[in-house]
Amino acid sequence: MRIVAVVNNKGGVGKTTVTANLGAGLAARGQKVLMIDLDPQASLTKSFFTVEESQAYLNSLQTIGAWFRASDKHRAQVLADIVFSPARCNSLVNKHGGWLDLVPSDPMIVNSESLIPGAVDGTGNIRPAKFVGLHRRLADDLTDPMFSKYDVVLVDCAPAFSLTTKMAAIASDMIVMPARPDYLSTEAIQVMGQHLLDLTRDFNHHRKAAPDEAPELRMPRVAVLFTMVQWYSGRPIDVHAQYINEVATLGVPVFRTLVRDRNREYAAAGRYGVPTILAGGVPPEVRTNLQDCVDELLTFFERLNP
Ligand SMILES: Nc1ncnc2c1ncn2[C@@H]1O[C@H](COP(=O)(O)OP(=O)(O)O)[C@@H](O)[C@H]1O
Ligand SMILES: [Mg+2]
Repeated sequence: MRIVAVVNNKGGVGKTTVTANLGAGLAARGQKVLMIDLDPQASLTKSFFTVEESQAYLNSLQTIGAWFRASDKHRAQVLADIVFSPARCNSLVNKHGGWLDLVPSDPMIVNSESLIPGAVDGTGNIRPAKFVGLHRRLADDLTDPMFSKYDVVLVDCAPAFSLTTKMAAIASDMIVMPARPDYLSTEAIQVMGQHLLDLTRDFNHHRKAAPDEAPELRMPRVAVLFTMVQWYSGRPIDVHAQYINEVATLGVPVFRTLVRDRNREYAAAGRYGVPTILAGGVPPEVRTNLQDCVDELLTFFERLNP
């Protein structure tokens, strides 16, 4: 099983769009995919429902909030019980034996993260075992045999380096970092890199002091996926090319595939309950562009340790 966290603490860079389309694209290739929506904005969840369905589901579905509140003993079971299979999507991807499941989020859980028991004692000092257990929550639960049927888990993170984003990063084999090719986004990539280094260092520091030693955390492998790239005369416009090259020069792995800026196709994304890669009436070049991202992600997987 490969676990991919889709992370960038900047909002509006395409994290949710990338997660939904990679998930659907992998499932269409025969992979068994679980997507986890860790963003209280619940945009990923909403992308699998039509507007009418969305209103109905919010009152009926169990969401990730139940996992935030679950006691340690039942947590993995609670996570498995929340899983929902979007029927419309699955009817489109099941030709090759793949499928797509979702752990939904919910706008009502906006403060739920605070329900997760803390890792500090009464005097504000970190309790190492609690710190490690808390940060490994998602990593540990996904090792439960109930999840072994999945080939890939994709985690869509909130636009913040919050506790849940850290949990996703720690659980992941790989981080896909969608970014726009502009000045502030390229700055954000460097900031995120530093956050991940700090997280790895802190985790390993507390891990050593914890009685039940968890595995050492290696700095997660990151690949930047540029999104909303404007195209002219068969290549990115100059200013976009400049920022893309700048990031590549920093030595950060970058997807060769650039997700093109296609406002018309992505503006209505989610509205019809299927990601763009599966939607009808999408121009072939938009679909191919997304399929290229799926191909490249599979190539990244091959380069990861077994
Ligand atoms: N390649 C693209 N071209 C044009 N618009 C896009 C593209 N990717 C995403 N969008 C749009 O940009 C907005 C933000 O995307 P989203 O995936 O929600 O970002 P994030 O999850 O990082 O906040 C959405 O309205 C989405 O439809
Ligand atoms: Mg999002």
